[in-house]
Amino acid sequence: MPNELLPKTRALQEQLDQIIWDTLSSDEAEALYETLVPVVQAHDERYYRHDDPLIPDPEYDRLFQALQRIEADFPELQRDDSPTQRVGFDPLDAFEKHTHPEPLLSLSNAFDAGEVREWYERCQRGLAEAHGSTTPAVVAELKIDGLAVALTYTDGQLTLAATRGNGVQGENITRNVRTIRRIPLALENDTNEIPESMEVRGEVFMRKSEFEALNERLRREEKQPFANPRNAAAGSLRQLDPRVTARRPLSFFTYAQGPTEGPMPDTHTAVLEQLGTYGLPLNPHWERFEEIEDAIAFCEDWVDRREDLDYEIDGVVLKVDRHDYQDELGAIANAPRWAVAFKFPAREATTTLRDIEVNVGRTGVVKPEAVLEPVGIGGVTVSQATLHNEDYIAERDIRIGDTVVVKRAGDVIPQVVRPVVEARTDSQTPWSFPTRCPVCSSELVRLPDEADYYCLNTECPAQFKRLVEHFVSRNAMDIEGLGERVAAQLVDTGRVEQLDDLYRLTVNDLTTLEGFAEKSAQNLTEAIAASKERPLSRLLFALGIRHVGRTVAEQVVAEVPSMQALSEASIGELEAIDGIGPVIAESIHDWFAVEDNRALVDALRDVGVNTERLPEESPDEGRQVLDGETFVLTGSLPSFTRREATERIEQAGGRVTSSVSGNTDYLVAGENPGSKYDDAEERGIPILNEEMLLDLLDGAAR
Ligand code: IVH
Repeated sequence: MPNELLPKTRALQEQLDQIIWDTLSSDEAEALYETLVPVVQAHDERYYRHDDPLIPDPEYDRLFQALQRIEADFPELQRDDSPTQRVGFDPLDAFEKHTHPEPLLSLSNAFDAGEVREWYERCQRGLAEAHGSTTPAVVAELKIDGLAVALTYTDGQLTLAATRGNGVQGENITRNVRTIRRIPLALENDTNEIPESMEVRGEVFMRKSEFEALNERLRREEKQPFANPRNAAAGSLRQLDPRVTARRPLSFFTYAQGPTEGPMPDTHTAVLEQLGTYGLPLNPHWERFEEIEDAIAFCEDWVDRREDLDYEIDGVVLKVDRHDYQDELGAIANAPRWAVAFKFPAREATTTLRDIEVNVGRTGVVKPEAVLEPVGIGGVTVSQATLHNEDYIAERDIRIGDTVVVKRAGDVIPQVVRPVVEARTDSQTPWSFPTRCPVCSSELVRLPDEADYYCLNTECPAQFKRLVEHFVSRNAMDIEGLGERVAAQLVDTGRVEQLDDLYRLTVNDLTTLEGFAEKSAQNLTEAIAASKERPLSRLLFALGIRHVGRTVAEQVVAEVPSMQALSEASIGELEAIDGIGPVIAESIHDWFAVEDNRALVDALRDVGVNTERLPEESPDEGRQVLDGETFVLTGSLPSFTRREATERIEQAGGRVTSSVSGNTDYLVAGENPGSKYDDAEERGIPILNEEMLLDLLDGAAR
């Protein structure tokens, strides 16, 4: 009932508003019940099958409670397919044990591309006797970080759910699983016949956003929050009282089919597709690869991409696609030979929080930063981490001297996640936010509705130092040899009081600074002089205007030919630029409205810094050099992940496709290229290595 669902729901809600339960006749109850059941079912359907709830949870709860009320008052009306049957009632003393008809295996791990290749070669050797030299296709899936469960559907109905337990024996958690709205109680069978009996395996997990909300609620109720989404999912699923489970936002993805009575597809790909058609939730990010190198590229790609997901994954699972190959390969101990888990590098470690310092940023924002006992995380030593803001520290009750969990995720700055409360002695001390700027001593201000404190003194040297660091950074004016330390020296000694002072520095000025010799001073003045020729978009980005990142700067410059023109543009004109919304338009406009800022731009122009758009920055030239060009990538590139390479090509107007065809313009080949290399060679398609690709991209950027 897609279109009538909302009006029907509203009508029901009105009816419920007026109901006097005590005087409800059995006929009225029946009529109401028969309207309610399909409506609640339809909401369930949207919620758990399409992830697209139509009404807020409290409204849903109210409908649900009405159902429960009718069923309690008129038990004879109760239907077997009532949505209330998702919830059991009395808590159990303990879970019943369940012996799996076939054990739930675990996976052997591979910690890098080399180990994946070794696994694949073992598979190839295992198949060699029967099949000669084969390159079996593999399916790559995300490894969801939750709890494995086995669901049994008999004649399409969910009849049993069990935890993995030790793999051989788990616990019967059917009543709890029935409360998970994402798990269908009955399978759909639009196109496929449903096997008489079928076990489905998958992972129960909690979304990061739901986890945060749950912890928030637990904190409000003064209960102990969970340490991470996985623990929250485990704690919620193994509740003896299913009503507690029912209140926990659990999700599910299926990834395998267990023992089945009835026909079984002959590849894993077909299994996944079929499970999807039954209405079981399937993670969308899976792919079948003919070549192991492409599967490895998929694994490496997800090391960074996992941050974009709303659920935790701890790796990628690779599975040989063909079932007959799987059977031939078999299992060793408790892990199949035909599958492997590519595990992501660790991102968390525990260490001691030595101190909390505050840092003043370019905009005057004051951020607390953790000073840590140095600790290695995923190959990098971490000794500093962000603590975000005052509330973050207070909510987690992070104290100086605490043992803390530190997380380093992709390119993101390391952060302190939480204290390990169990490790507390009595030597930890609570911390409070300083009232004065650590650099200029002016009073710090926390504005209403803002989480951050600000130093409002525009003359504060700390802010200016950050601006200099930003101005000279790689993506801005790209002045080599001018890092944090030199910026601090230049500002502290008064050599640089305004950005344009940089361009008046002489070799003599620099040699008087500590750590500078004639040669290094010479190099730096040359690097500074060279930066005068940077494209206009870089200068615009370098000025540090709020909300003006690199891309925005490029978009602005594509339409506005000079600093002069930009300083005269109205908010409306700015907003008319592609990609520029009212917030950015206002921010740029406000910046140029300040007299000192306009004077700064003039001063930069006077010392010779380019303030005009360069020919290659204009929209019809340069940037889109790769426009219409189609690329295929194969093998691993020395310094790019596949995703990074794809992004760069796309930014320059090119397109990346997965297989070589008549439309392919270039093949980019890294180490261990796959058969695409031969394809390209055969077709006479130019083959580039990373360096050649970079040259091409450089041409595009300049
Ligand atoms: S396949 C024989 N696929 O990882 C193959 N497992 O260490 C067994 N897991 O306990 C599992 N996502 O809970 C498979 N896409 C996925 C998975 C996955 C998560 C978990 C599973 C299992 C553990 C194996």
